[in-house]
Amino acid sequence: MSNPARPPASGALAERPPLTFPPGFLWGAATAAYQIEGAATEDGRGPSIWDTFSHTPGRTVNGHTGDVACDHYHRLDSDLALMAELGLKSYRFSVSWPRVQPGGSGPANEAGLDFYRRLVDNLLANGIEPWLTLYHWDLPQPLEDAGGWPARDTAARFADYATLVADALGDRVRYWTTLNEPWCSAFLGYGSGVHAPGRSDGADAVRAGHHLMLGHGLAVQALRAVRPTAELGVTVNLYPVDPASDAPGDVDAARRIDGLANRFFLDPLLRGSYPADLMADLAGTTDFGHVREGDLATISTPLDVVGVNYYSRHVVAAPVPGAEPEPYWRAPSCWPGSEDVRFVTRGVPVTDMNWEIDAPGLVETLRRVHEEYTDLPLYVTENGSAFVDEVVDGRVDDADRLAYFDAHLRAAHEAIEAGVPLRGYFAWSLLDNFEWAWGYTKRFGMVHVDYDTQVRIPKSSASWYAEVIRRNGLAAQ
Ligand code: FCB
Repeated sequence: MSNPARPPASGALAERPPLTFPPGFLWGAATAAYQIEGAATEDGRGPSIWDTFSHTPGRTVNGHTGDVACDHYHRLDSDLALMAELGLKSYRFSVSWPRVQPGGSGPANEAGLDFYRRLVDNLLANGIEPWLTLYHWDLPQPLEDAGGWPARDTAARFADYATLVADALGDRVRYWTTLNEPWCSAFLGYGSGVHAPGRSDGADAVRAGHHLMLGHGLAVQALRAVRPTAELGVTVNLYPVDPASDAPGDVDAARRIDGLANRFFLDPLLRGSYPADLMADLAGTTDFGHVREGDLATISTPLDVVGVNYYSRHVVAAPVPGAEPEPYWRAPSCWPGSEDVRFVTRGVPVTDMNWEIDAPGLVETLRRVHEEYTDLPLYVTENGSAFVDEVVDGRVDDADRLAYFDAHLRAAHEAIEAGVPLRGYFAWSLLDNFEWAWGYTKRFGMVHVDYDTQVRIPKSSASWYAEVIRRNGLAAQ
């Protein structure tokens, strides 16, 4: 097997000094409910848009669904033992909205909440800080039937759901993330349609993005009312966006994609406004008539922390008439108003997702958020890589994934040295899991999962990460 991401066996590596992170740095691992829990119809759970989508022929690779996933719902105790063995300081999980409020409105399903009570209590008993994400893409299907995120009412429903979870867990959970990656929910869910609910309409994607952020702001206010001392935040997925050359057309392409990928969310959330150039780019898509007086003030309700998910960089170029569209990103398009921008590959090593490996991009991204947007503490709430793993004699030597983590942790440290108040890092992911439209064909875990037997095998990256946590940094190499 070739290992494009493996660092050279000698030379550069031998010179790497040890790196120590600031005291109290929060070392974690992340997962999401639909990707690991399974138990899709148990104890009163209702369907989410991901149940519907994954059960619709042709939507996921091999028709894979999250019906069973990692069966985490039934294997909570042994999965908690794995987390304790790793020495995790924190575990970022998401609450399944349709498990705790099956219809998307109305009373709580206590049996569903009990699962999260048990999870949180056991994390605390093991000295692991629970980090709760309220929405990692699993909208209750009845809310999609009523219009989904393009409908304004969904934002109010989200705030009600936030209150219900805070009432149950607010006394025990300190860190709360409202939304995970609203760009994906809006632009992959309602723009390209490669994610649930699989709709393709640029104006709906823009409306969805706005209502997700409105729901976030309302939820922050609701959470604050229940638990004034909680650390509240949101997680955005950010990319550096580079022009392929200095040519004005390429530079403009980068400005456009940066607007849609990054500033569409960062500006309303942290500055209380939409960027004027982005609104101009979207003029042919929407008149922004869905934005009401006061929305942006709600959306920019003060936070305590900001979560950044980082995976890769975009390099883009001006449209070329008649050029072939790229399959994943443009099916039809998740870039309304900028559909013709070309995404350029640079020939650098990629992961099994075909995402270019670009650790310096993490430094740039964290510095940008800090220097251009906020002094708030930042957390990398996801970072990781898919590679093809092989089980040999009961072991998985995932040198590529380990090298990816190592490079990105060095980048995180560099950002801290540059003045970024980075307070923690969550590896994506604890377990191999249901990778959305890719089903079980992409493995991101530090722990290997055999989906036939549900046997877990910690990979080399897991023992390496345990050592990183133990020494609060990286050993000399
Ligand atoms: C992020 C998602 C996460 C996982 C990783 C690979 O966009 O938040 O659920 O799919 O990508």
